[in-house]
Amino acid sequence: MKTRPRINRWTEARRNLLFGDFSLQSLVQPHFVVNGSGIDNPIEGMDGIHQQSVDILIQTIRNDYNNGIRSVMLFGIVNSEDKDEQATKASDASSHMHEAIRKLKSEFGDSIVVMTDVCLCTATNHGHCGLVEHGHIVNDASVERLCEIAVSHAEAGADYVCASDMMDGRVSAIRSALEAEHHSSTGVLSYSVKYASSFYGPFRHAADSSPEFGDRSTHQMNINSGYGEATLEAMLDEEEGADIIMVKPGLPYLDVLRRVADSVHRPIAVYNVSGEYSMVMNVAKELEMRKQMVCEIMTSFKRAGAQVVITYHAREIAKHAWMK
Ligand code: PBG
Repeated sequence: MKTRPRINRWTEARRNLLFGDFSLQSLVQPHFVVNGSGIDNPIEGMDGIHQQSVDILIQTIRNDYNNGIRSVMLFGIVNSEDKDEQATKASDASSHMHEAIRKLKSEFGDSIVVMTDVCLCTATNHGHCGLVEHGHIVNDASVERLCEIAVSHAEAGADYVCASDMMDGRVSAIRSALEAEHHSSTGVLSYSVKYASSFYGPFRHAADSSPEFGDRSTHQMNINSGYGEATLEAMLDEEEGADIIMVKPGLPYLDVLRRVADSVHRPIAVYNVSGEYSMVMNVAKELEMRKQMVCEIMTSFKRAGAQVVITYHAREIAKHAWMK
């Protein structure tokens, strides 16, 4: 089975995220999970966002939960000595990332939606999103690794595995791999329309995932590409069985978001990325100004057709009840 519409209805938390009124429950808070214990490192350029070891992460998520956040996106950060050509650590069930997924599911069960980033870039020693052969990022072998990572996250309990790599054909390959391992209720969120953007800078710092050579232009979309390319990517992923279609970044691509939302049937997410967050945090040092900017931005995403917003602002929105 390629498409299982029931995946998005599987738990109340998923239904609230995808089909409720646009509200606090439509937001997803990203987290950077590091190895160790007691670690709570502020990330340069991203005020209020920290790299955290699993123990601190759980406390943070518990606190956010008490303020009304119900969905999280986890990025597993790998120590440099654990990185290699194959991104082995990314699918290692004994890693801190997998431990975080298991712990969250055992504490919160179905009352939260756990999304996990599926990519190679945080675990490869060259920082690329795929495997590199003769200086090129190869597609199909990378997809095989992505499937292994996705299945390992599903096994740990992820609600949605989120393919952020932009390899061709990975959504259908991941869906098939999940089916083969009987993870029929695990969904795939696809970073379908992802541009090779200059707005990811602070994230790459946070995730230690900058490419050592070259850039991401052979897989991520060209910023000058037209609507046809955007809708093609979204439609391909929908056909391949994506449960949620994402556009990324958000603010510079609101027009694309609207086009994509009008072109596909599955729920639409938008990623309000690290550079967009930093801009607001740098400009709006004062809370009231921040509230107004953040609420205006969230309204723009809703208007452009997003049901779900992945945003670093979620915590502050929840804490001060800026959204219902
Ligand atoms: C990994 C990935 C990136 C982001 C999310 N997943 C960085 C990249 O593609 O280089 C960026 C998120 C952000 O900037 O907040 N492939």
